[in-house]
Amino acid sequence: MTLKRDNKFISLEEVSGLQKKDVDYLYRSHVNSSLYSVFKILGFSSMDIEKAQGTTIYLKNGQEVLDFTSACGTLNLGHNHPDIIQAEKYCHEMKFIDCLKFGVNKLQAVLAHNIASLLPEPLDTSFFTVSGAEANEAAIKLATRVQGESKKYFIRTNGSFHGKTHGALAFTESENFAKGFHLGFPKEQIISIDFNSINQLKEVIKKHPHQIAGIIVEPIQGQDIVVPEKGYLRELVSLCRQENIITIFDEFKIGLGRTGDLFYFFQEDTVPDILTLSKSLGGSKRAIGAMVTSKKLWNKAYGKKKDSTLHSSTFTGLGESCAVGIKTLEIISHPEFLSSVKEKSSYFFEKLNQLKEKYPQKIKGIRGAGLIIGIEFNFPATNSEINIPFVKNAHIAMSGSIVRELLLNHNILTYFNGSSPEILNVMPPLTVSLEEIDQFIESMDKVLSTSFTKLISKFCKGAVL
Ligand SMILES: Cc1ncc(COP(=O)(O)O)c(C=O)c1O
Repeated sequence: MTLKRDNKFISLEEVSGLQKKDVDYLYRSHVNSSLYSVFKILGFSSMDIEKAQGTTIYLKNGQEVLDFTSACGTLNLGHNHPDIIQAEKYCHEMKFIDCLKFGVNKLQAVLAHNIASLLPEPLDTSFFTVSGAEANEAAIKLATRVQGESKKYFIRTNGSFHGKTHGALAFTESENFAKGFHLGFPKEQIISIDFNSINQLKEVIKKHPHQIAGIIVEPIQGQDIVVPEKGYLRELVSLCRQENIITIFDEFKIGLGRTGDLFYFFQEDTVPDILTLSKSLGGSKRAIGAMVTSKKLWNKAYGKKKDSTLHSSTFTGLGESCAVGIKTLEIISHPEFLSSVKEKSSYFFEKLNQLKEKYPQKIKGIRGAGLIIGIEFNFPATNSEINIPFVKNAHIAMSGSIVRELLLNHNILTYFNGSSPEILNVMPPLTVSLEEIDQFIESMDKVLSTSFTKLISKFCKGAVL
């Protein structure tokens, strides 16, 4: 065996002494060079990060960047929340067992109990995962098992995002992520309907009587930040219940306080058959997700002794991840914490709407709920070719120029999705302060005072350097 080139092993203690250019090289060489190129175009790769706390990412050059992405909903408690660090320390001091396959995991049992105590009946049984996609696959698998083979169809909604692993990918409609892949679930058994359309749901049910196993839906679509009409989720659940179709709500991005309620579906006074949660359940530090359902459905699928390990996974419910999940829920479910999210949200929406009034030609709308917010720009129509890799069209260049400008000149981190580049995603941690919101508004105001043409030309020059 020949060992490869620069083969010196780098110890953990050496990591903080590494130069940025060396880290970039390692990332490009051994992780993902194409993603690195995208980071470079948008300015993200310029951050030489020393540490992070709360909303702030501290750079080695002394600059402080406000993280208004929340890592797509993973940082509801902000970076390195002191109570979460304390919970981790407590686990270390107690030497809690982390990995236990053969025996009862105390922390798992308590986290599952706490989740049940915070959810409406009959959602009382949890299966823990590491990622979100895994939790959705667990939900689809359970629904398939409960419904039997004769009910072969599943419904997803256009614009949905439910993960990128082979199974979950079949249920993700957004952005052509599934194009060209063999899927873990037969394509011909998936029916896509418009989000927010009860009529289309009724039509599909009529067309495939007693053949639909389940429907998976994000109560607010996270990619384009689409909030459904009031009553939609309730009607969806009630219709599906009449037809014995299992309902799965995926609240990875919008759950755990993001909308000011512990889960958004609470606002609709309805209960799905299965709820999936992830992202911020790990207190912004751990990888943990959960599929939560009723004892009745769980037992139908896996209730017999011989089926008790029919669905399992190596890393399900590691001790410390569960401990952090317990602490996270304790913090987020506190009524004062949730009402502070609502207050900050009203403040933020008010300020953003004032900006919209100031720049009516540039801002088309402000959408979202709580602290998942989309600023929809009114980009001018243009056919001009942009000659930058990844920047497929002028709208991506326009959004890219705003994101790059906000980061490099105003120290604010934001992002957009390729499916709808005209919508800037704004998701600060739920612990964000009003002063930080003001800083965002002032920065956005300055960016919008510059013409889109000027921003793009600056972007094109900077992005290709
Ligand atoms: C709504 C939603 N569902 C599922 C997923 C997939 O989760 P994961 O990336 O942890 O597999 C995501 C991730 O962004 C998501 O936002």
